[in-house]
Amino acid sequence: MAWENELGDQLFHEHQQHLAPTGLIQYYNLVVDHAQGAEVFDVAGKRYIDLLGSAAAMNAGHSNPHVMQAMRKQIDQLVSYDAGYFPNPTTIKLVERLAAIAPGNAPKKVSLGTSGSDANDGIIKFARAATGRTYIVSFDGSYHGTTMGAISAGGCDPNMVRKIGPLVPNIVHVPYPDMYRCLPNETEHEIAMRYFDSFMLPFTTYLPAEEVACVLIEPIQGDAGMIKPPAEFVELVYQFCHANGILFAVDEINQGLGRAGKMWSSEYYDIEADLISVGKSLASGMPLSAIIGKADLMDQLGTSAHVFTTAGNPVCCAAALATLDVIQHEHLPEKSAADGEYAKQQFLRLQAKYNFIGDVRMYGLNGGIEIVKDRLTKERDRDGAAKIIFRAFQKGLILVKLAGNVLRFQPPLVITRVQLDEVFTILDSVFADFENGVIELPHELKKYELVKRAIKKIPVMGFFCHN
Ligand SMILES: Cc1ncc(COP(=O)(O)O)c(C=O)c1O
Repeated sequence: MAWENELGDQLFHEHQQHLAPTGLIQYYNLVVDHAQGAEVFDVAGKRYIDLLGSAAAMNAGHSNPHVMQAMRKQIDQLVSYDAGYFPNPTTIKLVERLAAIAPGNAPKKVSLGTSGSDANDGIIKFARAATGRTYIVSFDGSYHGTTMGAISAGGCDPNMVRKIGPLVPNIVHVPYPDMYRCLPNETEHEIAMRYFDSFMLPFTTYLPAEEVACVLIEPIQGDAGMIKPPAEFVELVYQFCHANGILFAVDEINQGLGRAGKMWSSEYYDIEADLISVGKSLASGMPLSAIIGKADLMDQLGTSAHVFTTAGNPVCCAAALATLDVIQHEHLPEKSAADGEYAKQQFLRLQAKYNFIGDVRMYGLNGGIEIVKDRLTKERDRDGAAKIIFRAFQKGLILVKLAGNVLRFQPPLVITRVQLDEVFTILDSVFADFENGVIELPHELKKYELVKRAIKKIPVMGFFCHN
Protein backbone atom coordinates (compact mmCIF):
# COMPACT_ATOMS: atom_id res chain seq x y z
CA MET A 1 0.00 0.00 0.00
CA ALA A 2 1.35 3.40 -0.97
CA TRP A 3 2.08 6.13 1.53
CA GLU A 4 0.62 9.59 1.04
CA ASN A 5 3.17 11.02 -1.35
CA GLU A 6 6.39 9.92 -2.97
CA LEU A 7 8.41 13.01 -2.12
CA GLY A 8 7.59 12.72 1.59
CA ASP A 9 8.31 9.00 1.48
CA GLN A 10 11.65 9.48 -0.19
CA LEU A 11 12.81 12.25 2.19
CA PHE A 12 11.61 10.30 5.21
CA HIS A 13 13.59 7.23 4.19
CA GLU A 14 16.70 9.28 3.43
CA HIS A 15 16.43 10.79 6.90
CA GLN A 16 16.09 7.38 8.52
CA GLN A 17 19.26 6.18 6.80
CA HIS A 18 21.38 8.80 8.51
CA LEU A 19 19.54 9.56 11.74
CA ALA A 20 20.13 7.44 14.84
CA PRO A 21 16.84 5.61 15.44
CA THR A 22 16.38 7.06 18.92
CA GLY A 23 15.74 10.48 17.35
CA LEU A 24 12.48 9.60 15.62
CA ILE A 25 9.20 8.26 16.96
CA GLN A 26 7.73 6.76 13.83
CA TYR A 27 4.03 7.21 13.16
CA TYR A 28 3.77 7.92 9.42
CA ASN A 29 5.94 9.49 6.74
CA LEU A 30 5.05 13.14 7.19
CA VAL A 31 7.78 15.61 6.23
CA VAL A 32 6.82 19.14 7.26
CA ASP A 33 7.37 22.03 4.88
CA HIS A 34 5.69 25.01 6.52
CA ALA A 35 2.97 25.84 9.03
CA GLN A 36 0.64 28.64 10.01
CA GLY A 37 -1.69 28.88 13.03
CA ALA A 38 -3.14 25.39 13.49
CA GLU A 39 -2.31 24.25 9.95
CA VAL A 40 0.73 22.36 8.69
CA PHE A 41 1.70 21.73 5.06
CA ASP A 42 3.87 18.82 3.97
CA VAL A 43 6.57 18.85 1.30
CA ALA A 44 4.01 17.94 -1.36
CA GLY A 45 1.76 20.83 -0.33
CA LYS A 46 -0.90 18.75 1.44
CA ARG A 47 -2.64 20.58 4.29
CA TYR A 48 -3.16 19.09 7.76
CA ILE A 49 -4.81 20.39 10.91
CA ASP A 50 -2.24 19.92 13.65
CA LEU A 51 -3.68 18.09 16.66
CA LEU A 52 -0.19 17.52 18.05
CA GLY A 53 0.76 21.20 18.14
CA SER A 54 4.41 20.23 17.64
CA ALA A 55 4.21 18.22 20.88
CA ALA A 56 2.43 20.99 22.82
CA ALA A 57 5.12 23.49 21.87
CA MET A 58 2.86 25.65 19.75
CA ASN A 59 0.24 27.10 22.09
CA ALA A 60 0.46 30.50 20.37
CA GLY A 61 0.19 28.88 16.93
CA HIS A 62 2.66 28.15 14.15
CA SER A 63 4.43 31.21 12.73
CA ASN A 64 2.49 33.56 14.96
CA PRO A 65 2.99 36.99 13.31
CA HIS A 66 3.77 38.76 16.60
CA VAL A 67 6.36 36.12 17.52
CA MET A 68 7.91 36.12 14.04
CA GLN A 69 8.20 39.90 14.04
CA ALA A 70 9.87 39.94 17.47
CA MET A 71 12.37 37.29 16.36
CA ARG A 72 13.19 39.15 13.11
CA LYS A 73 13.78 42.36 15.04
CA GLN A 74 16.06 40.55 17.48
CA ILE A 75 17.98 38.80 14.67
CA ASP A 76 18.82 42.20 13.20
CA GLN A 77 20.14 43.35 16.56
CA LEU A 78 21.87 40.43 18.30
CA VAL A 79 21.59 36.75 17.42
CA SER A 80 23.60 35.28 20.24
CA TYR A 81 25.80 36.13 23.14
CA ASP A 82 26.43 33.73 26.00
CA ALA A 83 24.15 35.22 28.67
CA GLY A 84 26.07 33.23 31.29
CA TYR A 85 28.84 35.78 30.81
CA PHE A 86 27.16 38.96 29.65
CA PRO A 87 23.37 39.32 29.40
CA ASN A 88 21.41 41.41 26.91
CA PRO A 89 18.26 43.53 27.43
CA THR A 90 15.93 40.90 25.91
CA THR A 91 17.12 38.11 28.20
CA ILE A 92 17.00 40.43 31.21
CA LYS A 93 13.40 41.39 30.36
CA LEU A 94 12.30 37.76 30.02
CA VAL A 95 13.81 36.68 33.35
CA GLU A 96 12.01 39.55 35.08
CA ARG A 97 8.72 38.67 33.37
CA LEU A 98 8.90 34.97 34.20
CA ALA A 99 9.57 35.74 37.85
CA ALA A 100 6.52 38.04 37.83
CA ILE A 101 4.03 35.70 36.12
CA ALA A 102 4.82 32.57 38.12
CA PRO A 103 1.92 31.48 40.34
CA GLY A 104 2.02 32.26 44.07
CA ASN A 105 3.07 35.25 46.13
CA ALA A 106 6.61 34.36 47.20
CA PRO A 107 9.38 36.28 45.34
CA LYS A 108 10.80 34.15 42.53
CA LYS A 109 14.10 33.78 40.66
CA VAL A 110 14.69 32.17 37.29
CA SER A 111 17.30 29.88 35.76
CA LEU A 112 17.28 29.44 31.98
CA GLY A 113 18.05 26.40 29.84
CA THR A 114 17.38 25.08 26.36
CA SER A 115 15.01 22.13 26.83
CA GLY A 116 12.41 20.85 29.21
CA SER A 117 14.75 18.00 30.04
CA ASP A 118 17.55 20.24 31.31
CA ALA A 119 15.03 22.24 33.36
CA ASN A 120 14.04 19.05 35.19
CA ASP A 121 17.70 18.15 35.73
CA GLY A 122 17.99 21.64 37.21
CA ILE A 123 15.08 20.99 39.56
CA ILE A 124 16.97 18.00 40.96
CA LYS A 125 20.08 20.15 41.44
CA PHE A 126 18.27 23.11 43.04
CA ALA A 127 16.24 20.84 45.33
CA ARG A 128 19.31 18.93 46.52
CA ALA A 129 21.34 22.12 46.98
CA ALA A 130 18.60 23.99 48.83
CA THR A 131 17.73 21.17 51.23
CA GLY A 132 21.05 19.36 51.64
CA ARG A 133 19.03 16.16 51.06
CA THR A 134 19.48 13.65 48.24
CA TYR A 135 16.23 11.78 47.54
CA ILE A 136 13.73 12.79 44.86
CA VAL A 137 10.25 11.30 44.72
CA SER A 138 8.55 11.18 41.33
CA PHE A 139 5.66 9.26 39.83
CA ASP A 140 5.05 6.13 37.79
CA GLY A 141 3.83 7.11 34.34
CA SER A 142 5.61 10.47 34.32
CA TYR A 143 7.64 11.89 31.45
CA HIS A 144 10.23 14.48 32.42
CA GLY A 145 12.63 14.37 29.45
CA THR A 146 15.75 12.52 28.39
CA THR A 147 18.81 14.14 29.97
CA MET A 148 20.20 11.89 32.67
CA GLY A 149 18.38 13.42 35.64
CA ALA A 150 15.08 13.88 33.81
CA ILE A 151 15.10 10.36 32.38
CA SER A 152 15.85 8.94 35.82
CA ALA A 153 12.88 10.84 37.24
CA GLY A 154 10.57 9.66 34.44
CA GLY A 155 8.64 6.46 34.64
CA CYS A 156 6.69 5.75 31.51
CA ASP A 157 8.68 3.50 29.18
CA PRO A 158 11.29 0.84 30.00
CA ASN A 159 12.75 1.35 26.54
CA MET A 160 13.83 4.86 27.55
CA VAL A 161 16.14 3.59 30.24
CA ARG A 162 17.09 0.22 28.79
CA LYS A 163 20.89 -0.12 28.31
CA ILE A 164 21.76 3.36 29.64
CA GLY A 165 22.09 2.77 33.37
CA PRO A 166 23.16 3.33 36.03
CA LEU A 167 20.65 6.15 36.32
CA VAL A 168 20.87 9.12 38.71
CA PRO A 169 20.66 7.57 42.17
CA ASN A 170 18.15 8.16 44.97
CA ILE A 171 15.05 8.67 42.85
CA VAL A 172 11.99 6.83 44.14
CA HIS A 173 8.83 6.34 42.08
CA VAL A 174 5.34 6.15 43.54
CA PRO A 175 1.99 5.43 41.82
CA TYR A 176 0.02 8.27 40.18
CA PRO A 177 -3.76 8.18 40.62
CA ASP A 178 -5.75 6.94 37.63
CA MET A 179 -9.43 7.76 37.90
CA TYR A 180 -10.34 5.76 34.76
CA ARG A 181 -8.66 2.46 35.63
CA CYS A 182 -9.75 2.45 39.27
CA LEU A 183 -11.49 -0.15 41.44
CA PRO A 184 -15.18 -0.88 40.84
CA ASN A 185 -17.47 1.83 42.28
CA GLU A 186 -14.57 3.69 43.85
CA THR A 187 -15.30 7.35 44.64
CA GLU A 188 -12.86 10.15 43.87
CA HIS A 189 -12.18 10.50 47.59
CA GLU A 190 -11.47 6.77 47.91
CA ILE A 191 -9.11 6.92 44.94
CA ALA A 192 -7.30 9.87 46.49
CA MET A 193 -6.91 8.06 49.81
CA ARG A 194 -5.82 4.75 48.23
CA TYR A 195 -3.09 6.49 46.24
CA PHE A 196 -2.06 8.66 49.17
CA ASP A 197 -1.54 5.44 51.15
CA SER A 198 0.70 4.19 48.29
CA PHE A 199 2.54 7.51 48.32
CA MET A 200 3.15 7.15 52.06
CA LEU A 201 4.33 3.53 51.88
CA PRO A 202 8.01 4.29 51.12
CA PHE A 203 8.08 6.84 53.95
CA THR A 204 6.86 4.27 56.43
CA THR A 205 9.08 1.42 55.15
CA TYR A 206 12.47 2.56 53.82
CA LEU A 207 12.59 6.28 52.98
CA PRO A 208 13.34 8.73 55.82
CA ALA A 209 11.34 11.89 55.07
CA GLU A 210 14.18 14.08 56.34
CA GLU A 211 16.39 12.76 53.51
CA VAL A 212 13.94 13.70 50.74
CA ALA A 213 14.73 16.90 48.82
CA CYS A 214 11.62 17.18 46.68
CA VAL A 215 8.57 15.61 45.14
CA LEU A 216 8.44 16.23 41.38
CA ILE A 217 4.99 15.97 39.79
CA GLU A 218 3.20 16.68 36.53
CA PRO A 219 -0.08 18.30 37.73
CA ILE A 220 -1.68 16.49 34.78
CA GLN A 221 0.34 13.60 33.33
CA GLY A 222 0.63 14.29 29.61
CA ASP A 223 2.43 11.35 28.07
CA ALA A 224 0.60 8.87 30.29
CA GLY A 225 -2.56 9.88 28.39
CA MET A 226 -3.74 13.18 29.95
CA ILE A 227 -4.37 11.85 33.42
CA LYS A 228 -5.48 14.27 36.10
CA PRO A 229 -5.36 13.09 39.72
CA PRO A 230 -7.97 13.99 42.34
CA ALA A 231 -7.22 17.44 43.83
CA GLU A 232 -7.43 15.90 47.29
CA PHE A 233 -4.49 13.59 46.50
CA VAL A 234 -2.25 16.40 45.20
CA GLU A 235 -3.10 18.60 48.17
CA LEU A 236 -2.39 15.80 50.68
CA VAL A 237 1.00 15.18 49.08
CA TYR A 238 1.69 18.92 49.14
CA GLN A 239 0.74 19.21 52.83
CA PHE A 240 2.93 16.21 53.68
CA CYS A 241 5.84 17.86 51.85
CA HIS A 242 5.41 21.11 53.72
CA ALA A 243 5.17 19.39 57.07
CA ASN A 244 8.44 17.57 56.39
CA GLY A 245 10.63 20.21 54.76
CA ILE A 246 10.31 18.52 51.34
CA LEU A 247 10.12 20.84 48.34
CA PHE A 248 7.16 20.56 45.97
CA ALA A 249 8.20 20.84 42.32
CA VAL A 250 5.84 20.89 39.36
CA ASP A 251 6.63 20.11 35.74
CA GLU A 252 4.57 22.56 33.63
CA ILE A 253 6.50 21.86 30.43
CA ASN A 254 3.64 20.10 28.65
CA GLN A 255 0.61 21.38 30.56
CA GLY A 256 1.51 24.98 31.39
CA LEU A 257 1.05 28.30 29.57
CA GLY A 258 -2.66 27.94 28.88
CA ARG A 259 -2.65 24.38 27.57
CA ALA A 260 -4.81 22.94 30.35
CA GLY A 261 -7.36 25.76 30.31
CA LYS A 262 -5.53 27.77 32.96
CA MET A 263 -2.24 29.65 32.72
CA TRP A 264 -0.64 26.97 34.93
CA SER A 265 -1.99 23.45 35.32
CA SER A 266 -1.04 23.55 39.02
CA GLU A 267 -3.87 26.10 39.43
CA TYR A 268 -6.26 23.14 39.54
CA TYR A 269 -4.98 22.58 43.08
CA ASP A 270 -4.66 24.60 46.25
CA ILE A 271 -0.85 24.58 46.25
CA GLU A 272 2.09 26.93 45.70
CA ALA A 273 5.01 25.11 44.10
CA ASP A 274 8.55 25.75 45.30
CA LEU A 275 10.06 24.98 41.89
CA ILE A 276 8.46 25.00 38.43
CA SER A 277 9.88 23.80 35.12
CA VAL A 278 8.65 25.37 31.86
CA GLY A 279 9.60 24.86 28.21
CA LYS A 280 7.99 23.78 24.91
CA SER A 281 5.47 26.59 24.17
CA LEU A 282 7.44 29.12 26.22
CA ALA A 283 9.27 30.36 23.13
CA SER A 284 6.85 28.88 20.55
CA GLY A 285 9.10 25.87 20.12
CA MET A 286 12.39 27.78 19.97
CA PRO A 287 14.92 26.09 22.28
CA LEU A 288 14.29 27.69 25.64
CA SER A 289 13.33 26.42 29.07
CA ALA A 290 13.21 27.85 32.55
CA ILE A 291 13.14 26.85 36.17
CA ILE A 292 11.18 29.35 38.20
CA GLY A 293 11.62 28.92 41.92
CA LYS A 294 11.26 30.64 45.26
CA ALA A 295 14.12 33.14 45.42
CA ASP A 296 15.65 31.87 48.66
CA LEU A 297 15.89 28.32 47.21
CA MET A 298 17.26 29.48 43.87
CA ASP A 299 20.03 31.34 45.70
CA GLN A 300 21.43 28.08 47.09
CA LEU A 301 23.07 26.73 43.92
CA GLY A 302 26.62 27.84 43.17
CA THR A 303 27.68 29.67 40.01
CA SER A 304 28.02 27.45 36.91
CA ALA A 305 26.15 24.49 38.39
CA HIS A 306 23.34 25.06 35.92
CA VAL A 307 24.35 27.30 33.04
CA PHE A 308 24.54 26.70 29.27
CA THR A 309 26.19 28.62 26.42
CA THR A 310 22.93 29.06 24.54
CA ALA A 311 20.51 29.29 27.50
CA GLY A 312 18.79 32.66 27.35
CA ASN A 313 19.67 33.13 23.71
CA PRO A 314 18.26 36.56 22.78
CA VAL A 315 16.28 35.34 19.73
CA CYS A 316 14.68 32.62 21.86
CA CYS A 317 13.97 35.14 24.61
CA ALA A 318 12.42 37.57 22.10
CA ALA A 319 10.23 34.69 20.90
CA ALA A 320 9.28 33.94 24.52
CA LEU A 321 8.37 37.54 25.36
CA ALA A 322 6.20 37.77 22.24
CA THR A 323 4.64 34.35 22.94
CA LEU A 324 3.74 35.48 26.47
CA ASP A 325 2.18 38.64 24.97
CA VAL A 326 0.01 36.48 22.73
CA ILE A 327 -0.97 34.06 25.52
CA GLN A 328 -1.87 36.88 27.88
CA HIS A 329 -3.35 39.51 25.52
CA GLU A 330 -5.35 37.02 23.45
CA HIS A 331 -6.55 35.28 26.64
CA LEU A 332 -5.43 31.87 25.39
CA PRO A 333 -5.93 30.09 28.75
CA GLU A 334 -9.60 31.16 28.75
CA LYS A 335 -9.96 30.27 25.07
CA SER A 336 -8.39 26.89 25.79
CA ALA A 337 -10.94 26.30 28.58
CA ALA A 338 -13.94 27.28 26.43
CA ASP A 339 -12.82 25.46 23.27
CA GLY A 340 -11.75 22.47 25.37
CA GLU A 341 -15.29 22.21 26.72
CA TYR A 342 -16.64 22.45 23.16
CA ALA A 343 -14.22 19.72 21.98
CA LYS A 344 -15.16 17.56 24.96
CA GLN A 345 -18.85 17.71 23.99
CA GLN A 346 -17.92 16.70 20.43
CA PHE A 347 -15.90 13.73 21.67
CA LEU A 348 -18.70 12.70 24.04
CA ARG A 349 -21.10 12.78 21.06
CA LEU A 350 -18.72 10.49 19.19
CA GLN A 351 -18.34 8.28 22.25
CA ALA A 352 -22.12 7.77 22.26
CA LYS A 353 -21.82 6.61 18.65
CA TYR A 354 -18.67 4.45 18.81
CA ASN A 355 -18.20 1.76 21.47
CA PHE A 356 -14.45 1.70 21.13
CA ILE A 357 -14.10 5.16 22.71
CA GLY A 358 -13.56 4.21 26.34
CA ASP A 359 -12.86 7.52 28.03
CA VAL A 360 -12.78 11.20 27.07
CA ARG A 361 -10.41 13.26 29.22
CA MET A 362 -10.24 16.92 28.34
CA TYR A 363 -8.69 19.72 30.41
CA GLY A 364 -8.58 22.78 28.19
CA LEU A 365 -7.70 22.05 24.56
CA ASN A 366 -5.80 19.14 25.94
CA GLY A 367 -7.27 15.72 25.56
CA GLY A 368 -6.66 12.02 25.90
CA ILE A 369 -9.18 9.81 24.12
CA GLU A 370 -8.97 6.13 25.11
CA ILE A 371 -9.39 3.59 22.32
CA VAL A 372 -10.36 0.31 23.99
CA LYS A 373 -11.31 -3.20 22.91
CA ASP A 374 -14.13 -3.32 25.42
CA ARG A 375 -15.59 -0.56 27.58
CA LEU A 376 -16.07 -2.92 30.52
CA THR A 377 -12.57 -4.39 30.64
CA LYS A 378 -11.00 -1.11 29.39
CA GLU A 379 -8.40 -3.21 27.56
CA ARG A 380 -6.18 -0.90 25.52
CA ASP A 381 -6.58 -1.24 21.74
CA ARG A 382 -3.13 -0.32 20.47
CA ASP A 383 -3.68 -1.68 16.97
CA GLY A 384 -6.99 0.14 16.77
CA ALA A 385 -5.40 3.43 17.80
CA ALA A 386 -2.59 2.87 15.25
CA LYS A 387 -5.18 2.43 12.49
CA ILE A 388 -7.16 5.48 13.59
CA ILE A 389 -4.18 7.83 13.62
CA PHE A 390 -3.01 6.52 10.26
CA ARG A 391 -6.43 7.10 8.65
CA ALA A 392 -6.58 10.55 10.31
CA PHE A 393 -3.22 11.34 8.69
CA GLN A 394 -4.57 10.21 5.30
CA LYS A 395 -7.58 12.49 5.79
CA GLY A 396 -5.55 15.54 6.82
CA LEU A 397 -5.08 15.45 10.61
CA ILE A 398 -1.80 15.24 12.49
CA LEU A 399 -2.77 12.94 15.32
CA VAL A 400 -0.57 10.61 17.40
CA LYS A 401 -1.13 8.33 20.35
CA LEU A 402 0.01 8.17 23.97
CA ALA A 403 0.38 5.19 26.27
CA GLY A 404 -0.15 2.92 23.25
CA ASN A 405 -3.87 3.51 22.76
CA VAL A 406 -4.77 7.09 23.76
CA LEU A 407 -5.38 9.69 21.05
CA ARG A 408 -3.43 12.85 21.82
CA PHE A 409 -5.44 16.02 21.28
CA GLN A 410 -3.28 19.14 21.72
CA PRO A 411 -3.91 21.55 18.83
CA PRO A 412 -2.40 25.05 18.90
CA LEU A 413 -4.63 27.09 21.21
CA VAL A 414 -5.33 29.56 18.38
CA ILE A 415 -7.27 26.91 16.43
CA THR A 416 -10.56 28.37 15.17
CA ARG A 417 -14.05 26.95 15.74
CA VAL A 418 -14.33 26.39 11.98
CA GLN A 419 -11.14 24.29 12.09
CA LEU A 420 -12.38 22.44 15.17
CA ASP A 421 -15.62 21.58 13.38
CA GLU A 422 -13.62 20.31 10.42
CA VAL A 423 -11.55 18.16 12.83
CA PHE A 424 -14.68 16.51 14.24
CA THR A 425 -16.20 15.90 10.80
CA ILE A 426 -12.97 14.15 9.76
CA LEU A 427 -12.70 12.21 13.03
CA ASP A 428 -16.28 10.99 12.66
CA SER A 429 -15.48 9.56 9.24
CA VAL A 430 -12.17 8.08 10.50
CA PHE A 431 -14.00 6.38 13.38
CA ALA A 432 -16.64 5.08 10.95
CA ASP A 433 -13.88 3.64 8.74
CA PHE A 434 -12.38 1.95 11.78
CA GLU A 435 -15.73 0.54 12.86
CA ASN A 436 -16.32 -0.78 9.34
CA GLY A 437 -12.91 -2.48 9.34
CA VAL A 438 -11.71 -0.75 6.18
CA ILE A 439 -8.43 0.73 7.48
CA GLU A 440 -5.36 -1.13 6.31
CA LEU A 441 -1.97 -0.13 7.72
CA PRO A 442 0.90 -0.03 5.22
CA HIS A 443 3.15 -3.08 5.56
CA GLU A 444 6.01 -0.91 6.85
CA LEU A 445 3.88 0.47 9.69
CA LYS A 446 2.48 -2.93 10.64
CA LYS A 447 6.02 -4.24 10.86
CA TYR A 448 7.06 -1.22 12.90
CA GLU A 449 4.21 -1.68 15.42
CA LEU A 450 5.27 -5.32 15.90
CA VAL A 451 8.97 -4.49 16.26
CA LYS A 452 8.15 -1.68 18.68
CA ARG A 453 6.21 -4.06 20.87
CA ALA A 454 8.89 -6.75 20.69
CA ILE A 455 11.75 -4.46 21.69
CA LYS A 456 9.83 -3.24 24.69
CA LYS A 457 9.82 -6.83 25.98
CA ILE A 458 6.96 -6.08 28.30
CA PRO A 459 3.50 -7.50 28.75
CA VAL A 460 0.54 -6.36 26.71
CA MET A 461 -0.99 -4.66 29.74
CA GLY A 462 2.13 -2.50 30.20
CA PHE A 463 1.84 1.23 29.74
CA PHE A 464 4.10 3.47 27.74
CA CYS A 465 4.44 6.95 26.47
CA HIS A 466 5.25 8.31 23.04
CA ASN A 467 3.92 5.40 21.06
C1 LIG B 1 5.97 16.92 31.04
C2 LIG B 1 7.23 17.01 30.23
N1 LIG B 1 8.38 17.30 30.87
C3 LIG B 1 9.54 17.40 30.22
C4 LIG B 1 9.61 17.19 28.86
C5 LIG B 1 10.93 17.27 28.16
O1 LIG B 1 11.00 18.41 27.37
P1 LIG B 1 12.06 18.47 26.17
O2 LIG B 1 11.62 17.46 25.16
O3 LIG B 1 11.96 19.89 25.68
O4 LIG B 1 13.40 18.17 26.74
C6 LIG B 1 8.44 16.88 28.15
C7 LIG B 1 8.48 16.62 26.70
O5 LIG B 1 7.66 15.98 26.12
C8 LIG B 1 7.22 16.79 28.85
O6 LIG B 1 6.07 16.49 28.23
